[in-house]
Amino acid sequence: MDLIILGLSLVAIAMIFCYTLLTGSPPTPTSPKVRNAMLALLPKRLPEVFEDKGRVYELGAGWGGNALVFARMFSSHRVIAIERSPLPWVFTWIRLATGGPKNLEIHLNDFSQYNLCDAALVSCYLSARQMEVLEKKLEREMVPGTLVVCHTFAMPNWQPIATVYADDLYKSPVYLYKTPNFKV
Ligand SMILES: C[S@@+](CC[C@H](N)C(=O)[O-])C[C@H]1O[C@@H](n2cnc3c(N)ncnc32)[C@H](O)[C@@H]1O
Repeated sequence: MDLIILGLSLVAIAMIFCYTLLTGSPPTPTSPKVRNAMLALLPKRLPEVFEDKGRVYELGAGWGGNALVFARMFSSHRVIAIERSPLPWVFTWIRLATGGPKNLEIHLNDFSQYNLCDAALVSCYLSARQMEVLEKKLEREMVPGTLVVCHTFAMPNWQPIATVYADDLYKSPVYLYKTPNFKV
């Protein structure tokens, strides 16, 4: 029995390691203090950029903490949480299946496969290297009025409409952007 548990633990660690190499960001969860800073930046109601309510995208959903909070906070919007690493995805799927909000979907996929043209809000906590590619993707796809909230890693060329620093050890920055204020 001990050997089975040890074996499963090693497989889990190896999977997380491999997917971290593949995606470029480990599944480090947003801490409650940083999440509070993110929520403090967001309006209670998202901009009405679409007649049928825009979607909320959590790009790289990790263990689902942010996605669940967004789904409860923006209950009239569909929240699409996309995660490429299978273990965090399964964990979030179980959280959702055992009483998660009905407006939340958790997809095991690469977020680069999605067109974000129907987004009212995009949230991400990724890596500096990924932000350059994501910035170009969002510029191509997003409509005016959309909000983007980023934890720790800023968009390289955009000017945030607001920045706050979380009350954590690193004073982690959180950036809020809104189209069309993308360009510096
Ligand atoms: C730093 S964690 C953040 C997790 C979560 N957003 C949070 O704030 O708690 C980044 C996550 O993004 C995922 N990820 C990175 N690139 C991705 C991609 N292209 N498609 C889907 N998920 C991705 C990683 O697997 C990792 O779980």
